[in-house]
Amino acid sequence: MDGLPKIIQGGMGVAVSGWRLAQTVSRLGHLGVVSGTALDQVLARRLEDGDPGGHCRRAFDAFPFRGMAERVWSRYYIPGGKAPDAPYTRLPFHGLECPRPLAEDCLLGNFVEVFLARDGHPNPVGINYLEKIQTPHLISIYGAMLAGVGYILMGAGIPLKIPGVLDAYVNHEPATYPLYVAGAQDGDDTTMHFRPREFMECDLPPLTRPRFLPIIASNTLAVTLLRKSNGKVDGFIIEGPTAGGHNAPPRGKPALSAQGEPVYGERDRVNLEAIRGLGLPFWLAGGFGGPDVLQAALDEGAAGVQVGTAFAYCEESGLRDDYKQAVLRLVAEGKSPVRTDPIASPSGFPFKVVELDGTVADEAVYNARPRVCDLGYLREAYRTPDGRIDFRCPSEPLSVYVSKGGTEEDAAGRKCICNALVATAGAPQVRAQGRFVEAGIITAGDDLAGIGRFMRRGSIRYTAADVIRVLLDERDER
Ligand SMILES: Cc1cc2nc3c(=O)[nH]c(=O)nc-3n(C[C@H](O)[C@H](O)[C@H](O)COP(=O)(O)O)c2cc1C
Repeated sequence: MDGLPKIIQGGMGVAVSGWRLAQTVSRLGHLGVVSGTALDQVLARRLEDGDPGGHCRRAFDAFPFRGMAERVWSRYYIPGGKAPDAPYTRLPFHGLECPRPLAEDCLLGNFVEVFLARDGHPNPVGINYLEKIQTPHLISIYGAMLAGVGYILMGAGIPLKIPGVLDAYVNHEPATYPLYVAGAQDGDDTTMHFRPREFMECDLPPLTRPRFLPIIASNTLAVTLLRKSNGKVDGFIIEGPTAGGHNAPPRGKPALSAQGEPVYGERDRVNLEAIRGLGLPFWLAGGFGGPDVLQAALDEGAAGVQVGTAFAYCEESGLRDDYKQAVLRLVAEGKSPVRTDPIASPSGFPFKVVELDGTVADEAVYNARPRVCDLGYLREAYRTPDGRIDFRCPSEPLSVYVSKGGTEEDAAGRKCICNALVATAGAPQVRAQGRFVEAGIITAGDDLAGIGRFMRRGSIRYTAADVIRVLLDERDER
């Protein structure tokens, strides 16, 4: 499997696998993957925080469209950063059509993240998207390709139409993507469009087509992707239900354990023999963050492993430091309270949550939060009775959700993980003149306890290089 990575550092949103982590992993010769979720928001907030370290400025200077770079920079940059009690600017929502300024923010957000992850070394870098967050796809992917992204990895959905987008963008040709609209009827136009030439301010040579790796949890999905995608699929990440972040729901009739967690069974096991028969490279994910597992995966015919949890808590990750330290301390004390919450995420997918006090995993913290939906990445498109397309989220104010045809039952227990995840990335929204600050939410795989193996003697901190050393079974020379 020449030229393919053995270790993929999985994409972790929002900004947990930021450019710093991905750059470190790729520099070490493995595949670093930045999260592609909410990068417009992440960029705007970094600029409103005064662009510490000047890294965004470096990436803006390399961006080919100078007018656009200037507009986005002047929209958000605050020298020295905003006042702590001042709110971050509220960006418009993505939709079937994207307002031009937001499209520019999104394009640059993706460009900046990939550019910085690639900076200073020759190795490929990937970007991860959740298929479910469809509205920014077309713009995001073009921004990432402008920065020379080497791999696109996509989970949480069935990304049949992504390969065609990649092929179109090689020559800056227009691309389309079908928006899933609940209740859509024949004849409704639910297609999103992006025409690079409407944004290009100069001619550019063709772009390189990144490799495309869908993240899947079933054999059926692998076969469907191969048969029905509108272009080339380059391999698969096979992710099991122990992985951090969102998980595929169990197949068959939903059942919950006594602790209220989804129960997975034999039907959720991916048949690797059938996957091998497809003839494409594949990587195994979910609990592959320890010694010996890489060899075990290779013995199964995999090209390697994708690892998330182990990297999420290392020095270079974008998880904000107070949360990171708190989780590392818990693990050092022998505690690793991870729960698979079947309803917290408005996406409808089970979501693994670390039960840490002070985060929205704590019911008291969440109940004290005003129900606001102002980021909206997980909103669902639906057809209104008069035939328009509107958006709703089960964690928005209840009366609003119900007025859009949502049910109280579906809204119960849902959390605004958009605001919570951006807070976890270190840029919490501030409301009511600083009297309310959004709390975060933390996710990890079932093997959170396993990160204890990376801690150095006398310290609970560890680096991405420590993780890679353990994965490769290399001796610790320290
Ligand atoms: C903090 C965290 C955030 C994650 N976010 C995403 C994400 O945004 N998109 C995605 O496809 N996978 C996400 N994942 C899954 C990882 O990319 C990876 O597949 C998974 O963590 C592998 O299993 P492990 O956690 O047992 O190592 C996340 C995982 C963690 C731990």
